[in-house]
Amino acid sequence: MKTFSYTVRNSRTVKAALGRNMADIPAQFPGLFSGADKICLVTGSDAPPSLRARALALFPEGKAPRFYFWLPPSEKAKTLEQAGQLASFLFDNGFSRNSLIIAAGGGAVTDLAGFAAAIYMRGINWVSVPTTFLAQIDAGLGGKTAVNLGGAKNIAGAFHQPALAVCDTAFLDSLPHAELRSGAGELAKYAMIGPAALRRAVVKHLPRAIAGDKTALTACVSACAAYKLSVIARDERDETGAREPLNFGHTAGHAFEALAGGRLPHGEAVARGMRAALIISRELRLLNAAAFKKLDALIDTLRLPPARTVRRDFNKFVLLVSKDKKARGADNRFILLEGAGRPVTAENIRTPLLKKAFEGALK
Ligand SMILES: NC(=O)c1ccc[n+]([C@@H]2O[C@H](COP(=O)([O-])OP(=O)(O)OC[C@H]3O[C@@H](n4cnc5c(N)ncnc54)[C@H](O)[C@@H]3O)[C@@H](O)[C@H]2O)c1
Repeated sequence: MKTFSYTVRNSRTVKAALGRNMADIPAQFPGLFSGADKICLVTGSDAPPSLRARALALFPEGKAPRFYFWLPPSEKAKTLEQAGQLASFLFDNGFSRNSLIIAAGGGAVTDLAGFAAAIYMRGINWVSVPTTFLAQIDAGLGGKTAVNLGGAKNIAGAFHQPALAVCDTAFLDSLPHAELRSGAGELAKYAMIGPAALRRAVVKHLPRAIAGDKTALTACVSACAAYKLSVIARDERDETGAREPLNFGHTAGHAFEALAGGRLPHGEAVARGMRAALIISRELRLLNAAAFKKLDALIDTLRLPPARTVRRDFNKFVLLVSKDKKARGADNRFILLEGAGRPVTAENIRTPLLKKAFEGALK
């Protein structure tokens, strides 16, 4: 087991444990668990039985009374109504400010349960236990919690760091190929925005990780989680600019997700969003043709299936991109690349170029 810790606002310490087949986490972090008067384990209702078994191995029942809450599958979990239902469940069962939520699932579960932890009694402790590849390298780390609103992604949310994040790559053994490929979308993002050593690690391991190779997956989780946590430690709340490149591919990606009505896995949407950002970077002459080709080839290695679920509605795309919360009052705001590992921001990308990017990304 590898452990990390870093300090955020108000001198709170955030801890993370990474490994494979870990056991009895409370014994290793007694300070967090011995003070909890009640514990609620939150998972997705479509999670395989092996996920629950692994979660129970990590968090065996102890003295604190244990409660269980199941969320609807994937994005259906990320609604204000679900957050309200979870908060009501906690209240009805006498949860206090000393209680603890353990969220074990993909990014949808950690986003929703983290959000409920942020609002319940103005914030209670939670433990993030990401169980998909995508969530272990990204969504389950960093304290961004949110629900979707009006068909747009992550519009209501809160920064609420988990007291502990536990990434156990044994969860990934039951992950279907489509979810591994979706995770590889965010994995490719790290190769595009990250430092050279991270890029080399991702390029080396990506093909075997996507095929489910355990060693490659563990190497990717270890490298990417460590990098993401180092970024969070520098910019917990997206205020200094250090965290912003993590949104590479997400401006168009979130719009593609919305145009697919939730039927496009997040990582695939991000991969197509990255392709849109690369096209804009090339057309604005930030990237030369050779650099574009090399970066775009990384997206090819994901072997994305045709994006049939995405409605080809360009006007709606423009609207969604302008309503993205990252636009900050501009017509739109994108993270672009001047080269591998050299992200820059650009605002007010004009409609003809958006159209080229939209069409190129959905080809
Ligand atoms: N908060 C952040 O910083 C952040 C970053 C990136 C993405 N996200 C969010 O994360 C969500 C996507 O997360 P995701 O890709 O994990 O998808 P997901 O949460 O929708 O899970 C995908 C599917 O995998 C299943 N699953 C989960 N763990 C499994 C396991 N171990 N074995 C078998 N099946 C398993 C789930 O039940 C679900 O059906 C999106 O809502 C996205 O907006 C958040």
